[in-house]
Amino acid sequence: MQNPQHSECQQRAIAEVKSAYSHLPHGDRIFRQCVEGQNSIAEVLKAKDPDSAGILKTERPSSYKIEQPYLSIISESHISTMSIVKTILITGANTGLGLEVVKSLCRSTTKYDILVGCRTPSKGQAAIDEVKNEYPSTSSTLSTLQVDLESDDSLQKAVETISKEKGHLDILMNNGGVAYDPQISSGAIGIREAWNKSWNVNVAGTQVLTTLAVPLLLKSSDPRLIFITSGTATLTETESTASENLKRLNGSPAAGWPKEPGFSTTSYRSSKTGLNMLMREWVRILKNDGVKVWCISPGFLATSLGGYGSEQLKKIGALDPVIGADFTLSVVEGKRDHDTGKIVRKDMIQPW
Ligand SMILES: NC(=O)c1ccc[n+]([C@@H]2O[C@H](COP(=O)([O-])OP(=O)(O)OC[C@H]3O[C@@H](n4cnc5c(N)ncnc54)[C@H](OP(=O)(O)O)[C@@H]3O)[C@@H](O)[C@H]2O)c1
Repeated sequence: MQNPQHSECQQRAIAEVKSAYSHLPHGDRIFRQCVEGQNSIAEVLKAKDPDSAGILKTERPSSYKIEQPYLSIISESHISTMSIVKTILITGANTGLGLEVVKSLCRSTTKYDILVGCRTPSKGQAAIDEVKNEYPSTSSTLSTLQVDLESDDSLQKAVETISKEKGHLDILMNNGGVAYDPQISSGAIGIREAWNKSWNVNVAGTQVLTTLAVPLLLKSSDPRLIFITSGTATLTETESTASENLKRLNGSPAAGWPKEPGFSTTSYRSSKTGLNMLMREWVRILKNDGVKVWCISPGFLATSLGGYGSEQLKKIGALDPVIGADFTLSVVEGKRDHDTGKIVRKDMIQPW
């Protein structure tokens, strides 16, 4: 939290306020909320932590008295605009939508400490090199973090590293994902293996990582938990063939068996429907913790997903992933705070 641009007096005031409130549950979190521009510790406590507000007013009157002078020094120091950096972990950030989100973050005026989640650190580093080359003057910082959603050991180590090096996490973006339906159709992978892998990465691994990371999110003053889902995952729209995309997804093949191997997403879209329920569960579980939770449905994007190739996907209507990434950034930066708990699309709420 030390900022060399603060005067010695400001630094001392900050240290004293921090120490005065460190005895409270979530003391560090309350401190961060205050330096992020909220004027009154008492207000923050009342809104977020009624029990602590009681302790503050009755058992620690001396702490309560020092509140106003120190807070005015803190607000004069403009800490809210100078030193608040948002720490964000994005899984699968070395390519596709994840990489574009990293670039969108680097274009933002907000400063981020970006943890580029990747299975293979050399791929993560290559992605960082690419971003730094494109955005040499970004104020955000980037580092790789090995995150393999199929390995509990990898997930455990990743969260331990964040805990040791950052002490908290502001945003967890569960983006890493796989789709094996084309490989089922071509015979390259068996149905069971493809389904198990899809659910392992898209749902089970995501759930393990989220469970491990929640304690770090709870140390943030504005925790955000995001799951990247899919437009294919809505149950309601399976009844629709209103557009070319929906026809491809939801149209029925001719009678007879075997069916022609068409454009199939059966294992992928089922796993993403499972992910949607996982999101709703986290909304329920974290309801009283002030964590904002969403699924983001970023649109049909030309990435490597499914192995079709981005050029092939563009031919059937896939968009530039930068569109999905900029929309995702808008959610990170508060534009859809009124839609927490929902599956948000750029222009609407995705039906369940
Ligand atoms: N493309 C679309 O139209 C679309 C639409 C809606 C939602 N989405 C979602 O967007 C997310 C990103 O997909 P994308 O389209 O950008 O596809 P992509 O280009 O294939 O990127 C997928 C990312 O997930 C990573 N990943 C795969 N297995 C992983 C594992 N076991 N552990 C950790 N990371 C793993 C990949 O890492 P490697 O490079 O090491 O394989 C890669 O970084 C996915 O959740 C996808 O379902 C995509």
